[in-house]
Amino acid sequence: MHNSALQIGFVGGGNMAGAMLAGLLRAGHPADKLQVADPNAERRAQLEKLGQRLVIVADNAEAISGADIIVLAVKPQLMSAVAQALQPGPQQLIVSVAAGISLAAMRDWFGPAQPCVRSMPNQPALVGAGMSVLCAAPGVSNIQRTQAEYLAGAAGATAWVDDEDLMDAVTAVSGSGPAYFYLVMEILEDCARDMGIPADVARQLAVQTAHGAGLAAREADTAPGELRRMVTSPGGTTQAAIEVLQQGGLDKLLRQALTAARRRSLELGGRKSD
Ligand SMILES: NC(=O)c1ccc[n+]([C@@H]2O[C@H](COP(=O)([O-])OP(=O)(O)OC[C@H]3O[C@@H](n4cnc5c(N)ncnc54)[C@H](OP(=O)(O)O)[C@@H]3O)[C@@H](O)[C@H]2O)c1
Repeated sequence: MHNSALQIGFVGGGNMAGAMLAGLLRAGHPADKLQVADPNAERRAQLEKLGQRLVIVADNAEAISGADIIVLAVKPQLMSAVAQALQPGPQQLIVSVAAGISLAAMRDWFGPAQPCVRSMPNQPALVGAGMSVLCAAPGVSNIQRTQAEYLAGAAGATAWVDDEDLMDAVTAVSGSGPAYFYLVMEILEDCARDMGIPADVARQLAVQTAHGAGLAAREADTAPGELRRMVTSPGGTTQAAIEVLQQGGLDKLLRQALTAARRRSLELGGRKSD
């Protein structure tokens, strides 16, 4: 079956589901093959704006009926109750996008034979520039992997990991990662204003510079370190700044930050950090 013929049912129609639905529609997925359930009438009204022929319902069982893929997109703390009330068919592929919900929990809820994939997206999915990392339970077929990748790919780039334990590190790097870059943008903007640059221009300089650097790094064949060296001429302005960042311990600080995020992810999943 071609991926665009897949029937996809979303359980929970919030921000992440909305981003994925918007991405699927942008990619040309037929609206009448997308079903979404959300108990919140206001939210359902918002989802209607995405596409007229979307199937938008209040009842989760209705949203998953006939679906090839079921996307679990409710908050992690609701997931156990919501998942256990579902009665998926044995062939339905379940993809959870909830932070910290393990494949073992999904196996407990749906049984060992149910094909399940765990996905960790990030916030830029909202503009189609997300990064989703996927991990499949044993027994998920290659076709189902391709289907999960098609779904996640509608919201940005995708990668797979085989070892589920890596999902905590993934959460620390790409899950929480957008916030690290926003923080740098906040500081650049603030500093630009302090240096006398008008507020609107200061915002533009911070945001467009981050956007440009991200885009250049993504398009380049070389590593970000090489791009950095290309803008750092000896004895120049960039070198003066980079020396301050390096001497102030930016590398060490970021490593500590990522370690803390990974530890917190382990704790939230009820596991101990090593
Ligand atoms: N947003 C992100 O950047 C991001 C990144 C990575 C992973 N995720 C994951 O994506 C999942 C959804 O996050 P989100 O940001 O999209 O949250 P959200 O905007 O709160 O969306 C969740 C939606 O589910 C609805 N809901 C509540 N109870 C439900 C039920 N029993 N059945 C069906 N739907 C129900 C909520 O309605 P009410 O508002 O009425 O409760 C809400 O509209 C989470 O598990 C999160 O970990 C999100």
